[in-house]
Amino acid sequence: MRGKFITFEGIEGSGKSSQIRLLAEALKARGIKYILTREPGGPPISERIRALLLDPQNKEMSSETELLLYCASRAQHTSEVILPALASGVHVICDRYYDSSYAYQGAARSLDKEIIRILTAFSTYSTDPDRTFLLDLPVEQSLSRIQDRELDRLEQESLSFHVKVREQYLSIAKDNASRYLVLNGLEDINILHRQILAAVFKLIGAAQ
Ligand code: TMP
Repeated sequence: MRGKFITFEGIEGSGKSSQIRLLAEALKARGIKYILTREPGGPPISERIRALLLDPQNKEMSSETELLLYCASRAQHTSEVILPALASGVHVICDRYYDSSYAYQGAARSLDKEIIRILTAFSTYSTDPDRTFLLDLPVEQSLSRIQDRELDRLEQESLSFHVKVREQYLSIAKDNASRYLVLNGLEDINILHRQILAAVFKLIGAAQ
């Protein structure tokens, strides 16, 4: 049976990484086959593109270049890692996927949504996640959570940039209600984990 494709989305500091780690530990403890991967990144070629995208020194990067690089990373990641795993019955947990491009490059960078749609279909081989978790919280709180770390090129963007990202995510979630589960990112980490686990077990048909 084909594996399930599970993605996590959210603004910076939303708690995605902690929830992904807890989910992976829970699946591992139950002997459920999965891989953990991320965007931009995954296989070596895509990780090299990630380094280009996030390097704070690349201030000259145009929004168009940025979108194309995210899509290039995604195409390699999808063909080399995601599709083979799903085909062999392994579940894929991915930190971000194409919804990030609509939120960051579409809403925050104001690039044409129709162009993103065409590039997305091309770079994902028309692959859609089966379930997406959005960890939502106010931008002020999320940015205060990351203030102590060294910020990458996107994290250094303004408050209004991140507000647009958040609003777009909420709108995408509303338009894709059967795929999305929106969670309160300010909720206790263990409560969130239990909500995510319940939804994942339902999706993959496993008992808790
Ligand atoms: P991360 O810090 O969650 O690993 O994500 C890397 C950054 O890249 C984050 O600021 C969101 C951004 N991003 C986009 O702008 N567009 C995309 O398509 C993806 C996947 C990520």
